[in-house]
Amino acid sequence: MPGKTLAELLEELEQKESTVTAGGGERAVEKQHLSGKLTARERIALLVDQGSFEEVDLFLEHRSTRFGMGEKHVPADGVVAGFATIDGRAVCIYSQDFTVMGGSLGEMHAKKICKVMDMATRIGAPVIAINDSGGARIQEGIDSLSGYGQIFFRNTRASGVIPQIAVIAGPCAGGAVYSPALMDFVFMIEKTSKMFVTGPQVVRAATGEEVSAEELGGALTHATRSGIAAFTSVSEEECFIQVRHLLSYIPSNNSENPPFLENDDPPDRENPELVNVVSPHPNKPYDIKKIIFELADGDTFLEVFPEYARNVVVGFARIGGHSVGVVANQPYHLAGCLDIDAADKASRFIRFCDAFNVPLLTLVDVPGFLPGSHQEFGGIIRHGAKVLYAYSEATVPKITLIVRKAYGGAYLAMCCRDLGADLVLAWPTAEIAVMGAEGAVNIIFRREIESALDSEATREKLLTEYRDQFYNPYEAAKRGYVDKVIHPVHTRRKVIRGLELLWSKREVGRGKKHGNIPV
Ligand code: HXC
Repeated sequence: MPGKTLAELLEELEQKESTVTAGGGERAVEKQHLSGKLTARERIALLVDQGSFEEVDLFLEHRSTRFGMGEKHVPADGVVAGFATIDGRAVCIYSQDFTVMGGSLGEMHAKKICKVMDMATRIGAPVIAINDSGGARIQEGIDSLSGYGQIFFRNTRASGVIPQIAVIAGPCAGGAVYSPALMDFVFMIEKTSKMFVTGPQVVRAATGEEVSAEELGGALTHATRSGIAAFTSVSEEECFIQVRHLLSYIPSNNSENPPFLENDDPPDRENPELVNVVSPHPNKPYDIKKIIFELADGDTFLEVFPEYARNVVVGFARIGGHSVGVVANQPYHLAGCLDIDAADKASRFIRFCDAFNVPLLTLVDVPGFLPGSHQEFGGIIRHGAKVLYAYSEATVPKITLIVRKAYGGAYLAMCCRDLGADLVLAWPTAEIAVMGAEGAVNIIFRREIESALDSEATREKLLTEYRDQFYNPYEAAKRGYVDKVIHPVHTRRKVIRGLELLWSKREVGRGKKHGNIPV
């Protein structure tokens, strides 16, 4: 500026900065705090390494003129965006500012988000989106819609290239939900997050149904019923700790390996606890997580989607310092059967791990796919196929441990040798068979049983014969479907050796555009 000294120019810059960083002003900030929420900048400060945030586009302004917008100053256009580090690693971040026009998204707001996403993709850093918004900025009409379209496009193109994390820290409604839905992990906060395509008023008007916002789109709903929220928390502080924790297991982009973290849990630690986990009674349930906790280094198991489709457990763990994606049947719920929701949950997790070079450890105790017309009508064929597809497609190291039941199609689906498992281990308690004894004997010996003088005694004898023949890992081991039958006490050591052996596994691309997963 001609005539102004540098000191004056700097003072002007400072003044401009403080006007913009005040967001929607004192009253709006107070309202935000009263509603139990932090401001956009407070959130970033809590999430990233102290002092590491570099904000960009602070002075960006909208260029809308209609509905009085020409005279309206919209600080930072309602979204705080920039770059920072978490545990010293670069992240790109944006945080919608609800104190400014309700964090609504217009043309320039979207441009800012896209700039950050483009940078994240170029430099290979995770993108973290903190959502707190009334949705499309109504005054900007179709330009707002276009903004969402540009974000969805980038979410999709960046999928499998950089990790994308969505925090829902307020309303996220209408079409806006589809950006988080396209990302890898959605974090929600009890009582704060609300996420729905159509809110309670629209639902009431369209269907007459009365439902509260919390019930329709709160954290608990999406954690237990819809399978949207991978993680929930009781406060924003807890949520940001969870985000940082998750990032410690995953690489910054698809060309890096996940961080290796040495720790003081000995790789050759024996697992006497595992000897009695599996009951000798075939139908007695137990908690598969006991096995996961025992195999993992210290308390490093981080469960993903803990409340959704609990018949399958998925999550990250460190085993011998390696980051590993664990997928396990849970006999505690639905006897560990695979159903539609479990198939969705497992296949999405497997694909994330494969995209980001996280080895897979699969623990198998599965009696089959869940029977019933509800499952068939709902498309268990299509959904179950996703698990087969995801495992077959995955080129990361794949280690499978058969703990107990491994029956039929579900045995195949749980990363068997034929789907490309690199190492298949089995405990002596493993039962690898086409189906359970009851069903099998009733089919193959129906005539013998019906014509026998004592049908029940004959059935029992045949059941025992079938169990003796197939309820073990040795038939599979004879044919090379199982590489090694191991003592449970040595499981951790064997898994770590497998991980170390497979560390250098490389599989080249298969020269096609992309497959057609049964979605
Ligand atoms: C412009 C908006 C806005 C929006 C909120 N505001 N949403 N301005 N466009 N979409 C403004 C309000 O006018 C108000 O401005 C300020 O933000 C705070 O909003 P309040 O209503 O006072 O806050 P609260 O009571 O907490 O209610 C929050 C809310 C409500 C539930 C989100 O604001 C709301 O219902 N907003 C509209 C939601 C909506 O219908 N959005 C469009 C959806 S269509 P002042 O100046 O008074 O402080 C859509 C399509 C996207 O999103 C499609 C993408 C594919």
